[in-house]
Amino acid sequence: MKKIVRIATVVLALSMSLSIVAGCKKDKKDDGKLKVGISIPTLQEERWARDKDTMEKACQDAGIEFVSNVADLDAQKQKAQCENMISEGIDVLILAPHDAAAAAAIVEDAAASGVKVISYDRLITATDKLDIYLSFDNVKVGELQGEYFVNNVDKGNIVILSGDPEDNNAKLFKEGAMNKLQPKIDSGDYVVLNEQACQDWKAEEAMKHVEAALNKSTDIVGVLAPNDGTAGGSIQALNKEGLAGSVVVTGQDAELAAAQRIMAGEQSMTVFKDTRELGKEAIKIAQDMFAEKEIKTDGQVVSNGVKDVPSVLLTPVSVDADNLKSVLIDSGYLKEADVMK
Ligand code: BGC
Repeated sequence: MKKIVRIATVVLALSMSLSIVAGCKKDKKDDGKLKVGISIPTLQEERWARDKDTMEKACQDAGIEFVSNVADLDAQKQKAQCENMISEGIDVLILAPHDAAAAAAIVEDAAASGVKVISYDRLITATDKLDIYLSFDNVKVGELQGEYFVNNVDKGNIVILSGDPEDNNAKLFKEGAMNKLQPKIDSGDYVVLNEQACQDWKAEEAMKHVEAALNKSTDIVGVLAPNDGTAGGSIQALNKEGLAGSVVVTGQDAELAAAQRIMAGEQSMTVFKDTRELGKEAIKIAQDMFAEKEIKTDGQVVSNGVKDVPSVLLTPVSVDADNLKSVLIDSGYLKEADVMK
């Protein structure tokens, strides 16, 4: 018995010392060099590939060691990947969550290991351990969509789509858009034929929801689509009825396919969020966090349900056929030859 107790004591002491080592593992920090972990939800959409490339390039340019992972729309996979990166000794985790609330557990793990987290583009909810949120003004994104919509759709039947329910941005975009649309619904100018969320932001979901509306009536004047992927799905459904081009369709992300549709007259607008700026800003913030410098937020916070998270929010820009060249092509975001193909 005594022997068992002794063995147990040794095991306990060993595991305690191991966990102390793990708690302050910081192999990388000890060598004074920043190592960044990047976690992206998907590469199925053009914008996320750009975010990833920009951040990797910014790390390379600054001689920062980095590791990146793509979660393929799977919250469990994202958690496992982030845990691996944390145990590999990253100092800062740049995390664009697939699922806002599920990602709270990742933040808690990171905090326990002394790893700082930047909630990238999408807000991580349900944790008070989050260090910073870096995104665009997402209510404003929705307002730009809504403003375009009400300026271009006087009255009639409409479809209202929103993004993935587990993505906090989807709520913010819709809130912004409804700030503009709701008065026209309340006055009876707009009749909502279908109002649906698009699971995982899938284009097929959008197509299905617009088809369901078209089954009620083909007399549709506008589709509020939350991003370019769902705009594409909506336009496919409209196309089947020969309606693409005669219905206002919003979007977001300034994807190449969307820019082509805008110039072809099929999609009405998109919202440009310069992911080049967002990516570079993320790496700059990571460097400042590592150097324990104060991050300039101008006092801006966004509530994640349990904490007012210090936030850096960049400005989105509304784009239609009139300013596409000056905003997207002249800035080098898209190439004229590709857009006009
Ligand atoms: C992003 C959008 C993107 C959407 C789908 C949102 O969180 O802010 O830019 O279109 O996710 O990936």
